[in-house]
Amino acid sequence: MIKSLTFLGIETSCDETAASVVKETSDGNVQILSNIVSSQFEKHKKYGGVVPELAARSHIENIDIVIKEAIKKSGLNFTELDGVAATAGPGLIVCLTVGFNIGKAIAYSLKKPFLAINHLEGHALSPGLENKLKYPFLLLLISGGHSQYLIVKKVGKYKQLGTTIDDALGEAFDKTAKILDLGYPGGPNLEKIANKGDPLKFKLPEPIINRAGCNLSFAGLKSAVLRQSKKISKKRKDRYDLAASFQKTINNILLKKTKIAMSEFKKTENIKNPTFVVAGGVAANKTIRTSLEKLCIKENFNPLFPNIKYCGDNAAMIALTGIKRFRNNLGSDVQITAKSRWPLDPGAPFMKGPGLKL
Ligand code: KG4
Ligand code: ZN
Repeated sequence: MIKSLTFLGIETSCDETAASVVKETSDGNVQILSNIVSSQFEKHKKYGGVVPELAARSHIENIDIVIKEAIKKSGLNFTELDGVAATAGPGLIVCLTVGFNIGKAIAYSLKKPFLAINHLEGHALSPGLENKLKYPFLLLLISGGHSQYLIVKKVGKYKQLGTTIDDALGEAFDKTAKILDLGYPGGPNLEKIANKGDPLKFKLPEPIINRAGCNLSFAGLKSAVLRQSKKISKKRKDRYDLAASFQKTINNILLKKTKIAMSEFKKTENIKNPTFVVAGGVAANKTIRTSLEKLCIKENFNPLFPNIKYCGDNAAMIALTGIKRFRNNLGSDVQITAKSRWPLDPGAPFMKGPGLKL
């Protein structure tokens, strides 16, 4: 490795305004010098979901403060940075543009490299904030907007094995939480409630469980929860049981589909004890972590889950991805603009919409 690198990372793709300073030393150790995340959760709570215009306005109001705070906490000043990395997609364009443009402006004024980062690559490499990653590895990326199995061949090279054909897993958690009146953000609230219920009380569907390889589908499950919720009483216990049964069904689906993804990985990657990473906001769910960890033991994979604080959106993973891409000469095109859709594997088939054959 040539020299140590310190990057400022900026993340504004959805409802977190985040900035972080990360250093990778010349021997490959990663130090998170600061990691500031300003959540807009209170602003969107009363609407039960993220309102894009409100989110964008809030990013504009907070981004300077968050960046200054990240620099101050790092103990460095702007001139000591080696580069700036900001999320350029996928996400809400009105939100992405805020962090992306300010990142570009800082880099240009410092005459330092600017890297446009794919948010999904940030999640993919997030366990690297505290561990050395061994490539290739198998990745399950589960967030509010995506649910995918990918082979991470190396930094910048991904092969998609499967994806959701309808809702993302985080979306399914959030919508189910809304149906059950559990408030926003849905995922963490649902997990808390589910732990108090009987997971075997309701039998819920496991869509496309016996077909379509490791592709996923959650829309039918969410609709079944909606139908069931209209049948049960308003008693707290019934809602807990339905939440627990939903979470159990999700775990069953992920177990079965991950097993398929693992066997597909083994077909092309000849590597002993490969790593299995689960990343993205939903990877914070402890039941999912525990059940997939057990599967790893059976299937001879090494489970590697990012620390819970790095599962949700943060800028440390964006700064780290910037450093890794810079080291691998994957600098970004200055012409790049914010993109709402940006698949990690450009060759992967688009799996949504009418006419889809599974
Ligand atoms: O990665 P993330 O912070 O943002 C996106 O890139 O989308 O993921 C947010 C998603 C939300 O849908 C949220 O409800 C879900 O992650 N989530 C959880 C948990 N914590 C966050 N879902 C289930 N269980 C959790 N403990
Ligand atoms: Zn995310």
